[in-house]
Amino acid sequence: MLYLPHLPFQLLPSEDRFLTADVAGGNRKNVSFDPTRGALGGNKPGPDTAELAAMLNRFGTQARQLLCGLIPRYAPHLERARTSFRPVEVKGREQTPRHDDRLLHVDAFPTRPMHGKRILRVFSNVSPDNSPREWRVAGDFAGYARRFLPRIRNPLPGTAALQAAFGLTKGKRSAYDSLMLGLHDQGKFDTDWQHTTDQVTVHFPSGTTWMCFTDSVLHAAMAGRCALEQTFHIPIAAMAHPELSPLHQLENLTNRALV
Ligand code: SIN
Ligand code: FE
Repeated sequence: MLYLPHLPFQLLPSEDRFLTADVAGGNRKNVSFDPTRGALGGNKPGPDTAELAAMLNRFGTQARQLLCGLIPRYAPHLERARTSFRPVEVKGREQTPRHDDRLLHVDAFPTRPMHGKRILRVFSNVSPDNSPREWRVAGDFAGYARRFLPRIRNPLPGTAALQAAFGLTKGKRSAYDSLMLGLHDQGKFDTDWQHTTDQVTVHFPSGTTWMCFTDSVLHAAMAGRCALEQTFHIPIAAMAHPELSPLHQLENLTNRALV
């Protein structure tokens, strides 16, 4: 995990008004911006939509510049996915275990198969009241995989093709995607392990930025409000150490090709 304690995301004075849970519509927790379509989602509809979209887009652009400067070898391979704004206080939110990101997990998206590509996320805390974003973090992906792989049931043959055909997933899930979703769920369901596995609590104060591969770094967001986040997808071939990718680690553990 890379932590940049002196790198705030600069809000424009007129953007201070967005730092409230009210910008999220209904019971949504995040506002998201899709850079390929230039479209905002999850927000409460209103006259501010374009300005809110511009704030998220600016964060995404700056996150890309930051990465290109810090890790130039990724620059030609960075695929910018969604930007999100997370205005709602994390603590005290009601959620089913599978959706509760206060439980340690690696990221795996039910609707968007990754086929082994990495998920790199850049976060900035822009909270107006200095509330830190509090995470629990654990690093042992191999130990996590070894513990939970035996609990994952194989999907029935043909499931992935059907899910794709009915538009439930964007493209067909690979065996890798099924295993990552299985790890995500099984880890969240294991209450004992959640408390006993080696972990540290980290506070990211307002005005700081941090990033990690959220598909291999176990994380749980325990508290905080008003964070911005940009997701990037990166092919394994662009990595300095492809052997550390979850795909290669899972292929070693299962002894088979997963994509
Ligand atoms: C997560 O990716 O699990 C949540 C991170 C956050 O919102 O701080
Ligand atoms: Fe996550």
